[in-house]
Order: sequence, then C-alpha cells, then structure tokens
Amino acid sequence: MAYWKWDPAFSVDIAVIDNQHKRIIDYINELGTVSMYQNKDKVHTVLVSLIDYTVSHFSFEESLMQEAGYSMLEAHKKVHFAFIERINFFKERYENGEDIAKQLMMDLQIWLVNHIQHDDTDYKEIVQAMLQKKQIAPMEGQIKDGWLTTMIDKFFK
Ligand SMILES: [Fe+2]
Repeated sequence: MAYWKWDPAFSVDIAVIDNQHKRIIDYINELGTVSMYQNKDKVHTVLVSLIDYTVSHFSFEESLMQEAGYSMLEAHKKVHFAFIERINFFKERYENGEDIAKQLMMDLQIWLVNHIQHDDTDYKEIVQAMLQKKQIAPMEGQIKDGWLTTMIDKFFK
C-alpha cells in the first residue's frame, strides 16, 4: 500500500483540525508499515492508537461545532459514531485472526477524504467565525492559553 501524503485539498482552513487530520493520516501510514512486517502485536497497537486518537479528534471537532452553534451537529455526530463502530468492527475481525489491514487502510482513506471534503468542510465557516470571535486565528494555528488550549488538553492529554 502506497504511503499516503497529506494534500492541501484536504485542508479545512483551521490549522488545529488540519493537524489532527494529518496525525490520522500518519496512523494510517503506520498501519501500512507494521502490517507489511506481519507483526501482529504492533498492528494491534497501531489499531488501538488509531481508534483512540480518532475518538478524541471527533469529540474535539464536536465541541468546536457545539461552541459555534452548528445546526448539523447531531447529524455529524451520527456520522462519527458510525465510523467508530466501523473501525471497531475491523479491530474485532483482526483480533479474530482476519488480515484486514489493507482493506481497512483503503476504507479509511476513502472515508476520511470524503468526510473531510464534505462533512467537515460544511462546518468550516461557522467554526472559523467562532474562533475569530474568540480571537484565535484559525489558519495560523495560533493557540493562546485559554478555551482552545483547555479543549486540546481535555481530549489529547
Ligand atoms: Fe468530522
């Protein structure tokens, strides 16, 4: 499976979110690397980390949408939930001895690109406006001590 590179077309113009999406892409690539070496423990570790990080990322995104008063929040949450269920199902299959790494990576790539370019792009403007109101520059990724830092600490530390 080819190494997957971040593409500027994936940007939602909110640096903190772009960075989290990049981290998810890193995990997907890591999954490709460890599965090549057929190291079952390592594949499992990456799978668990990928799920863990994605859950935090989704919760973080949902908090931003909520803070911004985004009207499609509930629908977006449902999409996130369905996706986590899906990766968990892959993890279960892996635990039951199926070699799912390649299929999961393809699935993740298709899903992530589609989700970023449609669902995430849809909240972009309202979240940007909210961040600007809080005087957080979305593109510079300037995270001052305050609300956003607290949120990041809450979900990722
Ligand atoms: Fe999302």
